[in-house]
Amino acid sequence: MTLALRPMLRMSYASNRPSLTPACSAPTFLGRVTSGVRQSLVRIDKRRRKLLAPIRARRQRQRQEQKQALGRLIRRVVDRRLDHLLQAPNGAPLRGAGAVGPTTQPTLYASPKALNGGIRLVTHLREWCDLRPDDDVLEIGCGGGGPALALTDYLNGDGRYEGLDIMTEPIQRAQAIISKDHPNFRFQVADVYNENYNRHGKFQASEYRFPFPDDTFDVVLLGSVFTHMRPADVDRYLAEIGRVSKPGGRSLVTYFVLNSEALGLIESGASAKKFTHRFDGFRAEDKDIPECAIAYDEEWVRARYAEHRLEIQEPVRYGRWCGRSRAIYPNRQDIVVAVKR
Ligand SMILES: C[S@@+](CC[C@H](N)C(=O)[O-])C[C@H]1O[C@@H](n2cnc3c(N)ncnc32)[C@H](O)[C@@H]1O
Repeated sequence: MTLALRPMLRMSYASNRPSLTPACSAPTFLGRVTSGVRQSLVRIDKRRRKLLAPIRARRQRQRQEQKQALGRLIRRVVDRRLDHLLQAPNGAPLRGAGAVGPTTQPTLYASPKALNGGIRLVTHLREWCDLRPDDDVLEIGCGGGGPALALTDYLNGDGRYEGLDIMTEPIQRAQAIISKDHPNFRFQVADVYNENYNRHGKFQASEYRFPFPDDTFDVVLLGSVFTHMRPADVDRYLAEIGRVSKPGGRSLVTYFVLNSEALGLIESGASAKKFTHRFDGFRAEDKDIPECAIAYDEEWVRARYAEHRLEIQEPVRYGRWCGRSRAIYPNRQDIVVAVKR
């Protein structure tokens, strides 16, 4: 009987149907399923739906909020209140002094992907880091501009955003485009070396001190940054996150975390990323330029957080990068939220 039931349950889960009825009514099974078994199945399914209901509701709410935030930004662009966010393909402003080049195919300052990713991250900050409109926010590796743009829609005049990146060009554009309308949004370049992003950087990340005093920020964000940094550099940055966070300050950092589930999925071929190349303390996609994509063992990440008195707020929100088909969270990379103790 157990064997006969398994395919029905799997069919129902795989197709994500809320009810088992269609599977039960399949002629192949009808003969074998007694009404008692059918009732148990219905009970199991009800329980499953009850357990999943809050997760589905939360996802729906998040999607709704993200759509609204994106809609608001687009409306503001269309209203021309943010028309400087539109740029001619050559990067020149579309109008005003110095406007040159064709204006027929304007592009957004932040790519739609970066914008969408930013809006999603801000939703996570609100939900998991208790982000408030008057918070002081630090974003390290803010290059893409997505979260900063999304935050212009959320932080009020008492709030503050500081963005830091090692690439000069995105910082200059963000200064010209975002800080212009939002003086409480500031951006600066860190002259730090990274094999993939800034080969001429003067300082090593493993020795870099963030240019902010101790206990300054309520929330620190790093989206897809430690996925491009080596262990000694990540370790230093975690220490710095601890230093510049206010007591009780929250951080949200994305990773490629290697644990038994992720390794199993990689082994089974389900993951697009393989992290085949082993280095001292990490794995990478690319042998020659490891900084293209770096993954860390979960134990290592946890040990570093403990060392720097950043208390991980469980659960780690495991993402879908390695082919998790039933990932509960919508994020692609794994997200670690922590509180400074
Ligand atoms: C994949 S991009 C992510 C950009 C942005 N956070 C986002 O989610 O769209 C990685 C960013 O990290 C920055 N980065 C790399 N190493 C860094 C370091 N040591 N310090 C600060 N930023 C760094 C890069 O310049 C780049 O902008």
